[in-house]
Formats: sequence, C-alpha cells, structure tokens
Amino acid sequence: MERMEPVEFGDAASTGRRGAGGSVLVTGGTGTLGRRVVRRLPEEGRAVRVLSRRPRPTGDREPYDWATGDLSTGEGIDAAVAGVEAIVHCATTIGRGDVAATRRLVDAARRSGGDPHLVHISIVGVDRVPFVYYRAKLAAERIVAESGLPWTVLRATQFHDLIAGIVDAQRMLPVTLALGGVRFQPVDAGEVADRLAALAVGGPAGRVPDVGGPQVRDHRELTRVTLRARGRRRPVLPLWLPGAVFRAYREGGHLAPDRAVGRVTYDEYLAARAPTAG
Ligand SMILES: NC(=O)c1ccc[n+]([C@@H]2O[C@H](COP(=O)([O-])OP(=O)(O)OC[C@H]3O[C@@H](n4cnc5c(N)ncnc54)[C@H](OP(=O)(O)O)[C@@H]3O)[C@@H](O)[C@H]2O)c1
Repeated sequence: MERMEPVEFGDAASTGRRGAGGSVLVTGGTGTLGRRVVRRLPEEGRAVRVLSRRPRPTGDREPYDWATGDLSTGEGIDAAVAGVEAIVHCATTIGRGDVAATRRLVDAARRSGGDPHLVHISIVGVDRVPFVYYRAKLAAERIVAESGLPWTVLRATQFHDLIAGIVDAQRMLPVTLALGGVRFQPVDAGEVADRLAALAVGGPAGRVPDVGGPQVRDHRELTRVTLRARGRRRPVLPLWLPGAVFRAYREGGHLAPDRAVGRVTYDEYLAARAPTAG
C-alpha cells in the first residue's frame, strides 16, 4: 500500500488532569458525534457550550449554552471560545474545508488567552488513504499538534451511522451499491463520544490510541444486513473503482483491527433502530 508521510507529533503542551467544573465548547455539537459528546459531558461535571452555524432552536431547553458561529468565515468564533477550559472539535466540512476551519478555531483559542485543551477527532488511516478529505483531516491534526495549546487527538473508524447512511442515501434506486473488496470496521458514535468526553476532562494526552469497532466486515455484507433491517429488498451490486484511494481502502488502510475496542456491533446498532411492529 502506498503510504503517505507519517505524522510526527510533538508532546502535548502540558500533562496532568485539568481543574474540575470548567466549561467545554463542542464544535459540531449538533452533529452525529458532537451531539452525543454534548450529552456525555455533564456526566463528567462539565458545563457545555454548543457551537453551531444556526441559532439555537426555539424551545430548546437543554442545559447547555449555545454559541452561533461559523468556522468557514470565523464569525462568532472568538465569542464561542471565550472562557472555556476545553474545546472538543467535532465540526467538519466537506472537501478540504477542515484545514482552514481548524486553523480559525486554533487562532481564536490562542487569542482567548485561556489556553484551552483542544481535543480533536480524526479518522483511522488519514495517513494511509490518499482521499482529499483524509488529507485535510491529517493537515488539521498537524495544526492542532503545532498549535502551542494543550492538545489531544483521537482517530476513530467509520461510525455505524455512516455505513447505514450510505445505504439509506440510495433508497430511491432499484439496486444498492457497495464498494467491492472493501471492508469496514464500524464503531458506535456513542462509544467514541464517551472516549472524547473522558479525554476532554483529562489532561492533554497528544495522539492517543485509535478507537475501532468490534468487527471488520465486508461492505456488501454490511449493506445486505442494513437492507434487511430496513425491510427493503434490493440486489446489492459491488462497485469497483479504480485509483489509489480505493486501492488503499481495499488494502484496509482505514481499519484498526488491533484496536477493536468498540463493543456495540453493527447488528446491535441496527436492531436498536429497527421499526417496532404494530
Ligand atoms: N462519520 C464518521 O464515520 C466518522 C468517523 C471517524 C471520525 N469522524 C470525524 O468526526 C467528526 C464528526 O463527524 P460527524 O459524522 O458527527 O459529522 P456531522 O454529523 O456531519 O456533523 C458536522 C457538524 O459540523 C458542524 N459544521 C459544519 N460546518 C461548520 C462550520 N462552517 N462552522 C461550524 N460548524 C460547522 C455542523 O453544525 P451546524 O450544521 O449546526 O452548523 C455539524 O454539527 C468529523 O471531524 C469527522 O471527520 C467521523
């Protein structure tokens, strides 16, 4: 497999547990992962501030603070980071947008003068799969590691929600496509959120061990079980794509079989969301 230049991380800016009870900003706190982190942090005794591009929904009485801001323009970001003890960075944009977004977040955090602990979520294999989004995630990791702020980076494999989402996005098609020769190791986003919340209240740890789901399974098989759980009957066709990106996926560059620490299987995830009878 073609390997990209390895990332060499410096030490996290300091070590040791941070003071209890401060508040934590969760960027992407409305997303698949971020909203779960938002739910976990109060259990760790932390006040939470959600960053979203949208204003707080009317009638939202959840016990968190809300900051409206946009990491693509920088608008509202200084106010969002003001006074926080830690930032869990779960916001993401397609393409290469995460590079500039992470830079803006880091710059605002440094300007705040509060030296917040920056906890960043990344993806297993960003240094092995030459996908443009992964390259951006790798560059974002470097920005975090070289920020001068206390930092922690966790890489995870694909979330169950993503695997199911690929199937659901094709619901109007007469067939369902799955990547030929590609396996995935889907992990429960709630378990990743648990880990991120624990990391946020702990001291900066630098690059921590990856989190992978409990099973590595062929994409066609994952697609079939998803269709079955949804009660949809469709043929599953393998999609064979040329190029270095898909070769790296076929070679398992995005997998972490030695870090299969997640417990919730994909079948359990599907069963928990199955439509109830009657
Ligand atoms: N999905 C996976 O399988 C997977 C696996 C491993 C790691 N990860 C990583 O985990 C992180 C979260 O992924 P996810 O699947 O939870 O993402 P997601 O559901 O797509 O959520 C994206 C979040 O980013 C926010 N956002 C987008 N553009 C923004 C901007 N310009 N300024 C501020 N916020 C912005 C959105 O908030 P608003 O719309 O409210 O503004 C939303 O909450 C990402 O870094 C991703 O790379 C994902």
